[in-house]
Amino acid sequence: MSALSPASDVPMVGATVSHADFVKISAILYDIAGIKLNDGKEGLVVSRLGKRMREVGELTFKAYIKRVQEDPAEMREMIDRLTTNKTSFFRESAHFDFLARTALPAWGGRDITIWSAGCSSGEEPYTIATVMYDFAQGGDVNGRILATDLSHRVLAKAKEGAYTAENVRDIPPQTLNRHFERQRDGAHDRWVAKPHLRSIIRFGKLNLMGDWPMKGAFDAIFCRNVMIYFDRETQERLVQRFSKLLAPDGYLFIGHSETLHSLKHDLRYVAPAAYAKAAS
Ligand SMILES: C[S@@+](CC[C@H](N)C(=O)[O-])C[C@H]1O[C@@H](n2cnc3c(N)ncnc32)[C@H](O)[C@@H]1O
Repeated sequence: MSALSPASDVPMVGATVSHADFVKISAILYDIAGIKLNDGKEGLVVSRLGKRMREVGELTFKAYIKRVQEDPAEMREMIDRLTTNKTSFFRESAHFDFLARTALPAWGGRDITIWSAGCSSGEEPYTIATVMYDFAQGGDVNGRILATDLSHRVLAKAKEGAYTAENVRDIPPQTLNRHFERQRDGAHDRWVAKPHLRSIIRFGKLNLMGDWPMKGAFDAIFCRNVMIYFDRETQERLVQRFSKLLAPDGYLFIGHSETLHSLKHDLRYVAPAAYAKAAS
């Protein structure tokens, strides 16, 4: 990888990371967030942390790592910058069909609690909320959603609940108009989650590697496209913890590119990337 800026031939701050520094950064990320950065991800570290280093005036990774080790706030910031937050409304939409056609009817209108674990900028919990409201057909929704993530940056966006036209393009138009308000934002429109949608979601910061204050039981846990960044042992531990928090007829949804195949757990496969707590 070139350490030279094409424009000026002057070394760019953070343009390369030595193997030793990469290993140190990976170890911190793994210890705190459970995220495994494999060899070959040096470019990702450079692009995500280089900007932060410029913001705080550190010229080398060595100096930046020292700063991170001495300052817990900077440690959190570094972890935050290294998380991958890609998400979208109605992502892997078969899960939301399952929720509307199988799970919600089976729960029979009882008061339900759903956890979106690793909710990123909110598209997943807001999608769940639209499905719950549409299922209630204009009536009150009996239930709530806990939405958590490690990253304060994405949580701030989730709490704001404002999305661009591009962000909302996968929401069916009727659903969009029912649950989001169109606002003018300079030259562009933005779509803001309506109060009824927000009223059933509670956002909070939670590191899945740490202690969980919630006691359950959850009727469904969505932990999609999060465990893919963890190693096998961490995934297994997490799935077993999720299982303990599920209601007897609860479901765990994982990402469609993820599998519980080689993990020890007591859940039953019911549909692609969907598992049930017990026979149902
Ligand atoms: C790729 S996004 C997935 C978002 C959403 N679940 C989806 O499927 O569209 C993964 C999210 O997991 C979060 N995450 C990663 N490690 C975490 C951890 N140890 N604890 C809590 N959240 C974590 C990241 O901050 C990121 O927002």
